[in-house]
Formats: sequence, C-alpha cells, structure tokens
Amino acid sequence: MTTHQELIDRDRKVTFHASTHLRDFAHGDAPGRVITGGKGIHIIDKDGREFIDGFAGLYCVNIGYGRTEVAEAIYQQALEMAYYHTYVGHSNEPQIALSEKILELAGPGMSKVYYGMSGSDANETQLKIVRYYNNVLGRPQKKKVIARMRGYHGSGIASGSLTGLKAFHDHFDLPIDTIRHTEAPYYYHRAAEQEGMTEREFSAHCAGRLEEMILAEGPETVAAFIGEPVLGTGGIVPPPEGYWEAIQAVLARYDVLLIADEVVCGFGRIGADFGSHHYGIKPDLITVAKGLTSAYQPLSGVIVGDRVWRVLEQGTGEYGPIGHGWTYSGHALGCAAGLANLAIIEREGLTANAAETGAYLQRQMQAAFGDHPIVGQTRGVGMLAALEFSADPARRRHFDPSRKVGPRVAAAALEENLIARAMPQGDILGFAPPLTTSRAEVDEIVARTRRAVDKVTDALVREGVLQTA
Ligand SMILES: Cc1ncc(COP(=O)(O)O)c(C=O)c1O
Repeated sequence: MTTHQELIDRDRKVTFHASTHLRDFAHGDAPGRVITGGKGIHIIDKDGREFIDGFAGLYCVNIGYGRTEVAEAIYQQALEMAYYHTYVGHSNEPQIALSEKILELAGPGMSKVYYGMSGSDANETQLKIVRYYNNVLGRPQKKKVIARMRGYHGSGIASGSLTGLKAFHDHFDLPIDTIRHTEAPYYYHRAAEQEGMTEREFSAHCAGRLEEMILAEGPETVAAFIGEPVLGTGGIVPPPEGYWEAIQAVLARYDVLLIADEVVCGFGRIGADFGSHHYGIKPDLITVAKGLTSAYQPLSGVIVGDRVWRVLEQGTGEYGPIGHGWTYSGHALGCAAGLANLAIIEREGLTANAAETGAYLQRQMQAAFGDHPIVGQTRGVGMLAALEFSADPARRRHFDPSRKVGPRVAAAALEENLIARAMPQGDILGFAPPLTTSRAEVDEIVARTRRAVDKVTDALVREGVLQTA
C-alpha cells in the first residue's frame, strides 16, 4: 500500500499548492498532508489520524463531511446528464430548481441567479455587471468600485484587487486602477484618534471615510461598494453596531450599487439564511459560493436584484446577447449538489443550529478566553468565531509579527488534533466549524483550543516575551 510519506513526496514534485511556501514545500521543508476521508466535523489523513475540523475546510463544508445523500444526488445526475452548456437559453432541471430555491431564500427584490465555479469568478461577474449597468445607463465614467481594507473577495486579477489584504496584492501589481479601499470596520483595531469612540460612533466614522472617498473620487465615477456582512479572511470581525445602516445611507446618497459578498455568510453560517438578513443589508447584488454546495461540488452564484436586472434586460435589448459566460455556468452536477445540500440544511434546521449552538460557541469561547493573558479579544457571530492575541490585552498591544503567535497557536491546536485557522493578517485564530456542530463538540473545540493557547503562553513566558502568564 502507498504510504502517506510516499504520497507527500510525489506531491512535492508535481503540485503547485494554493497559499503555500512553494520553495519550502517543493524541497521538503514545509509539511504536507493527504486527507483521505471525513465524517461529521472530523477529517482523517492517510495515516488514519483524525482531526476536528474547526474551520469546515475553508469555511465551506457546512453540512459536515461524508454526506452520502449529496454524493448520491451528484451520481444520479451524472448518470442522467452530467453536462450540457447553459448558453443561449439552455438549461437543466437542477439549475432551475436551485435558482428557485436561492431566490426564495434571498427574499424580495432579487430577480435572477447566474452561476460560476468559485467565489472569485462570481466577483469577476459582479464587476462586469456593474460596468455594463452603467454603460447601459449612459454613465461610462461611473466605474470605480470601493472595497474595504481587510475585505476578502477572491484572488484573481479583479477579485484579488477587491481583496484588501497585502499578501494578495504585493508582487502581483494589484490592485487594478478602478478599485479603491476604504477603512475596515474593525473596532478593535481603531486608531489612537478614535480611542474614545463608541461602536456607533466608530461606524459613523467609517461611513464618513467612505463618503469622503466618494466625494474625492467624484460620485459620478463611483459605481459600487462591495463588502462581506462580517469581515472573514481579514480577521473574522463582526461589524460594529450601526455600521451597515450608516454605510447604506451614504451609498444611497450617491447612487452607488451595493454588492454583498455572502460567500462565507450565505446559507446559514451566522444563523440567518444570509448575513444581509441578519444585519439589515439591502444589496443590489449578492455573491454566493462555499455554503451553496457545502463544497461537495465547486459552485458559485451571483444573485441579481430587480433594479440591476431591469437594466441588464434593457442592455441586451440595445446591444444583443450579453457577452459573458463560463463553459461550466449552471453545471448540472454542481446544481444537483446545491439542491441536496440546501435540502439537508432545511430538513436538519442547520441555520437555526448555527444561531443556537453558535451562541453557545461564543459564550464558551468568552468563558475560556475572556480574561486570558494573551487574548485581546474573543469575538464572533453564529458559527464564526475568532481569538485575537495580544501582548497586553488591557492596552490592545499587538505581538511583534515575527513572533508568529497566531500560527504557533494554530500549530499547537493541530497537535491537539484540532484544525483552527491562523488568519493571514494579524495574530488571529479563526473558527468556522460545520453548522452541524453540537454543544458537546463545541466543548471539545474550546477545551483543545485552551490547551493550545496555554501551551504557547507558557512558551512565550519562557522566551521572555511575556512577564507572567
Ligand atoms: C467572502 C469571500 N468572497 C470570495 C471568496 C473567493 O472564493 P473562492 O476561493 O471560491 O474563489 C472567498 C474565499 O474565501 C470569500 O471568503
């Protein structure tokens, strides 16, 4: 039988891995792991070692691993009709039923669904829609899109430009020139000048910064604003109180479209069908992926609201069929997986579980880390949570990044057979377990995390980075 090590050695020779230190991996100086199976919230590697996946893959395996019902739906669809394109009005039954279901969940004001394969490509579609929309309306100069620092919207040329994280821009000559980034709604990281502000005041400050940017650029040049209901990869940061209300008031004033990137929040993760419902966001366009199929197939979507749809129709009336489409748009296997996945979420009440067990997760995290000597903030909503580490929690002082405290805690958690994600910017440990997670499993996640954090704390004391623990 092929051993785990043999597989990893073969992999090093042939695979270009995402978000990986390419040289270290290729030369055997960074670890590899081959995953062979999973059940519920657990995954198993080639050695048979079992981990709790506290991040549901990349916050996507929302119904948990090993759901044969979804595999069966994909298989049956593949037997019947695996693929035919969806250009020029062609369709397939799962696509029709899935669009109906998505629109039902999205609620009033949403009109049509366009499909892709990833969150990144869905955001590329969003940018094309926004350009087309303003061209049809005779406003060719209204093209800029404002995203947020620390936002995450993908890693293509355009979607990576929307992303507001340094590592996704540096050395790729990004962002492209029609994208701007405004202040992140990250209350915990507020600057010294904002020290005394309440959350509401800080939200008003963020909205003020957005308005200043729109005015400086010229409102006639600003087409859209894109944001995740809860900042995800940028640190798992729920918005400060009143944030979305204040932002939407600014957008309405300057006729700027709102794109809600629901790739993480959509389909239950924060205890509502969409993050937009939870925060009172009324988007013109919505991006979905991840939880749409719980990653059993790659599938993404752009949900187009009535206001934009009317203009798209008008445009094709003037210019002919829209020049946009992927070979795999509305892929029958993806749509079959999506339908089976949404049926499980509905039947098992997973959105309600994300709200209830998610609230328990937040309480238990708070109880375990609320006054921990290296935890500056414990935050989250629903089944999204984060610990932000701090060298001096009372003063919100960050650790020296070279200490790599976040990655060290993630590595210590792995020794406890728990996967939690060291978020890419800052010393932040993220959690996004499957929506099926039970209270007992939450207890286990918190207990393992506590051992990992304590272990790193002791090491930091030994290294003289901390005085006492
Ligand atoms: C909010 C958000 N948008 C878009 C994306 C990009 O999705 P993908 O990696 O499928 O391209 C992600 C991925 O993490 C995301 O979190």
